[in-house]
Amino acid sequence: MCGIFAYLNYLTPKSRQEVLDLLVTGLKRLEYRGYDSTGVAIDSLDNKDIVMVKRTGKVKVLEDAIKEHFSGGEYSEPVLTHMGIAHTRWATHGVPCERNSHPQRSDEGNSFVVVHNGIITNYNDVKTFLSKKGYEFESETDTEVFAKLVHHLWKKHPNYSFRELVEQAIQQVEGAFAIAVKSKHFPGECVASRRSSPLLVGIKTKTRLATDHIPILYGKDVDSSKASELRPHGQTRELPVLPRSDSTSEFMPEQKEVEYFFASDASAVIEHTNRVIYLEDDDVAAVRNGILSIHRLKKSLDDPHAREITTLKMEIQQIMKGNYEYFMQKEIFEQPDSVVNTMRGRVRFDGQSIVLGGIKDYIPEIKRCRRLMLIGCGTSYHSAVATRQLLEELTELPVMVELASDFLDRNTPIFRDDVCFFISQSGETADTLMALRYCKQRGALIVGITNTVGSSICRESHCGVHINAGPEIGVASTKAYTSQFISLVMFALVMSEDRLSLQQRRLEILQGLSKLAEQIREVLKLDNKVRELAKDLYQHKSLLIMGRGYNFATCLEGALKVKELTYMHSEGIMAGELKHGPLALVDDSMPVLMIVLRDPVYVKCMNALQQVTSRKGCPIIICEEGDEETKTFSSRHLEIPRTVDCLQGILTVIPMQLLSYHIAVLRGCDVDCPRNLAKSVTVE
Ligand code: AGP
Repeated sequence: MCGIFAYLNYLTPKSRQEVLDLLVTGLKRLEYRGYDSTGVAIDSLDNKDIVMVKRTGKVKVLEDAIKEHFSGGEYSEPVLTHMGIAHTRWATHGVPCERNSHPQRSDEGNSFVVVHNGIITNYNDVKTFLSKKGYEFESETDTEVFAKLVHHLWKKHPNYSFRELVEQAIQQVEGAFAIAVKSKHFPGECVASRRSSPLLVGIKTKTRLATDHIPILYGKDVDSSKASELRPHGQTRELPVLPRSDSTSEFMPEQKEVEYFFASDASAVIEHTNRVIYLEDDDVAAVRNGILSIHRLKKSLDDPHAREITTLKMEIQQIMKGNYEYFMQKEIFEQPDSVVNTMRGRVRFDGQSIVLGGIKDYIPEIKRCRRLMLIGCGTSYHSAVATRQLLEELTELPVMVELASDFLDRNTPIFRDDVCFFISQSGETADTLMALRYCKQRGALIVGITNTVGSSICRESHCGVHINAGPEIGVASTKAYTSQFISLVMFALVMSEDRLSLQQRRLEILQGLSKLAEQIREVLKLDNKVRELAKDLYQHKSLLIMGRGYNFATCLEGALKVKELTYMHSEGIMAGELKHGPLALVDDSMPVLMIVLRDPVYVKCMNALQQVTSRKGCPIIICEEGDEETKTFSSRHLEIPRTVDCLQGILTVIPMQLLSYHIAVLRGCDVDCPRNLAKSVTVE
């Protein structure tokens, strides 16, 4: 949900053009987070002003505008120290247009400019307050109030440092945000902060830093009742003056030449540095005279003394498209490797044992629980649907599967002896995170299943499993799904390790897992055939996808992929429900795809198949290799290798991923950046 990128070079000469190139490249890496409109802000040539360029549309449009705007030779003159900010937006407040693009500014003179991710929920209150002070608003965004609030505070407290001004401002806003602020009054400085929205700082130095920790500077205790004076019911009393945090303590040791990168995620900084600090909620990170410091206004008992500089394990190739046309296509074809990476170091096929290091100490507690709850959104939710039956079988516990948003709407009862799994590729999905906090408050054990190290869901869980699928850039989730699926299967196997009666079943699943990479390779060979099927389908308006049992999740996931990528209507239908309504949709022109595998529900699926064909439906069938009987029902089929029933969903979802991909290409859709969507949904 929006991408923030800011760059500061201290005593590291760079021309404005180079800075702009860096900003644009950073935005390209973050574009999957939102791509409605974009913008950058850098210093003017005389360093007295800030120049902004903003465009509606994708980063490429901004890149072209920048080339036009900054073509003069003077922009190639090196500058010793400079700070620029950039943003790619997924609109929440106000339509995508230049006026609503970020950076948003404090005044006509561009005193303070802000890039922001998230939603400031009390922006109306702040707006009313500032309007009474004479501020006029030019956009419909919530972000603009932040820029103007900092400006207002600056006028009131002219002796405050840049960091103190931002620190005071964030105390007045509510909601989720990550922000980076630039000011013409504080050249060469950057201040950034986050609350429930990710932000990290990359550090690049010529010589290795003398420390791996940045000490946190705490302010004196704040009377929180004062901090909320702006909040209730749009009251606009005078802003409270909050205590100033201690600015005399020691900062990070001084660096001579240093570059800083502030970004929404690691993919935007990895080509520059692998040394990053993940900021925590309400951290205020400030760079002044090339020195980074991290401040917090209040200290609670368990707060640490420092933020650690971590070394990213990511490789630059992981975020490049290579020879593929689209990231999604690359990620589909990475699955033989990503599923192995999910199991690496965890599954011992020879000893038939499984160790999930991140949760092993909690297994006895999990075994004593009242029920398991699996909570997520979209594709992550489907991975829960896909594995529920196996979890019920191997854990012998009740398993509830919940959409995070609906779960919250219902105020679902949660108990101390519940174990709640939060499944999220990004680890930042707001609905899932809110559900996590809800369950944590009620004393449940929280298990995170994520693909993003350092994400909010990772950090706020008691324990968890990293699915290790590698960065997923395409907005449509593919390899994360199969890795989430396998992570949950591994958990089920761990839970049943000491159940004698389940040993045979465990063995067949382990054997299935050991063959999975090879079988996925086989399924991927269907690519050309799937492309041909896509040619039959791409001009239709709808696609019904039917199946049941272990393959119902594939129907839901396949339909979601078709919807989000191709903008066609698609519906995943539980085959058992066909006769209760959806059968009315079937005729000789309605595209139908049916999954019919030789598993315990085969006969029931065949009944459904016959119900469809006897209404003149001519479905595409996904069936098992060599299943001649099932194939007689249609001339169009995709054969997949046989595996154990509970792993079929991994093999059946891949043709669906390929099909949605090819239909999207044929329809001329932007595969990696579907309209109206964004990769990481950090707003509720
Ligand atoms: C999948 O293709 C989607 N883009 C979407 O449904 C996604 O899975 C959902 O938003 C949840 O995201 P998360 O896994 O990062 O929490």
